[in-house]
Amino acid sequence: MAIEDASILMVFILFISFICTFIIFYKTKVLCRCKICHAYITSSWSFEFDNLCDWYTHLLQNSPTKTIHIHVLHNTITSDHQNVEYMLKTRFENYPKGKGFSAILGDFLGRGIFNVDGEYWRFQRKMASLELGKMSIKSHAYEVVNYEIDHRLIPLISAFSRKEHGVLDFQDVFRRFSFDVICKFSFGYDPKCLHESLPMSELAIAFDLASQLSAQRAMTTSPLVWKIKRLFNVGSEKRLKESIKMVNKFAQEVIRQRNKLGCCSNHEDLLSRFMDKTKDPIYLRDIVISFLLAGRDTVASSLTGLFWLLAQQPEVVAAIRAEALMATQHESLTSLEQLHQLHYLQAVVYEGMRLFPPIQFNSKFCQLDDTLPDGTFIKKGTRVTYHSYAMGRMETIWGPDCLVFKPERWLKDGVFYQETPFMYPVFQAGYRMCLGKEMALVELKSVILSLLQRFDIELAHPSRAPRFSPGLTATFRDGLPVRVSERRGQTLPKPHVSTS
Ligand code: HEM
Repeated sequence: MAIEDASILMVFILFISFICTFIIFYKTKVLCRCKICHAYITSSWSFEFDNLCDWYTHLLQNSPTKTIHIHVLHNTITSDHQNVEYMLKTRFENYPKGKGFSAILGDFLGRGIFNVDGEYWRFQRKMASLELGKMSIKSHAYEVVNYEIDHRLIPLISAFSRKEHGVLDFQDVFRRFSFDVICKFSFGYDPKCLHESLPMSELAIAFDLASQLSAQRAMTTSPLVWKIKRLFNVGSEKRLKESIKMVNKFAQEVIRQRNKLGCCSNHEDLLSRFMDKTKDPIYLRDIVISFLLAGRDTVASSLTGLFWLLAQQPEVVAAIRAEALMATQHESLTSLEQLHQLHYLQAVVYEGMRLFPPIQFNSKFCQLDDTLPDGTFIKKGTRVTYHSYAMGRMETIWGPDCLVFKPERWLKDGVFYQETPFMYPVFQAGYRMCLGKEMALVELKSVILSLLQRFDIELAHPSRAPRFSPGLTATFRDGLPVRVSERRGQTLPKPHVSTS
């Protein structure tokens, strides 16, 4: 009888799989044989390009409208800044993240700000922008960042620089650094990932796995593929479920502990601030996990791209050092205000992220039939993506030297200047622009300055061009192996941090 039951189940699963495969083929037009779709399905683009984003950039550069459509993905991709402004501002309501996106990240992020539209989004946006706008939280962020730099990052790299022939993976270091910072900032919890022994944090591992596997869902030609795997709790979906459980358990425990203390006023972290606004523990968990995702990999990815570029630009490194010396009159950098005066450094950061945006593309789902400013018709339900990576490499936007790393393009009479964020949607733009932009800039500038003031950094494999791993955020597949040496004659001023 048991064997009979198993056979019936097998037949049933096979039948369901057959129906689903048929629907997938039908719905996704997998049979489309146009040149672009064929190259996508067979991955033949990879004969010519290292990365999918490079192939998209090539297609977009060569499209007369700077917009393309990948039929098998139901995806219109644009690099036209007027289209970007239209989606993110003019017709914002017609281009929500949509149910498709929420479903992909829903298990991991729940109702967190990253994953919702409408009222849930508006409430969190208002609450978060009020909190993040306060001077006290900015000062807190600055203190958290500087503590991590002075007590972990510098000692770790300094110890490493004394080893002979040592090669250090800067990408790994930056991931550890940014995880410590965002956990302390969001939860008031210190995972100590950047401790000198470089411990493995269970939370960081579970968090990485959950975001990686969630991103994999988005790469299937139809959501039915991962939905079936989730239904039967098999393969990657089983691992995703386990990693999410671990992250949730951790977040809930922090919230429980904080509730037990019964008082939030003497805590500076984001969670404590949000606890004043809502008591729902699941909602609080979702909000904070979204912040971890928003602020961790993006910062690590920006630093990795920036240091890959800087290691090949000695004159830019010299200019950063010279500007800092001028601004601080040879003392250590001691305040947020001093950091804001470093216009060249800000230009370097923007220029680095132009060529290596941490979030390479961003998608919305069109609600009602529409036509973009460049004349492209968008059918209701189509996924519409703006491609920040391609936009950073467009001659039509940046001129013939678009592939050259040139911070000066961001300066007007020595002062940092940005024309319109829609040409550079690295932090998105319009109504859903990144809420952590200021904090991220402070973090990036502080790390760059601290490291360049103390160390000379060179790539271990200078001729190796970056190849990216698939994921929500750009990650160098081979890491960023570097050699570091302490700069001679550098007296290190005692760290002194004031937030005045
Ligand atoms: C270099 C670092 C960063 C980059 C490049 C970046 C970029 C972005 C982008 C492209 C979005 C839009 C995402 C989407 O809607 O799908 C976004 C949203 C957001 N970011 Fe960042 N981000 C960075 C750092 C941070 C940090 C450190 C925080 C937190 C402290 C943060 C908090 C947020 C939040 C809360 C949103 C959601 C805004 C909304 O939906 O209204 N980000 N960011």
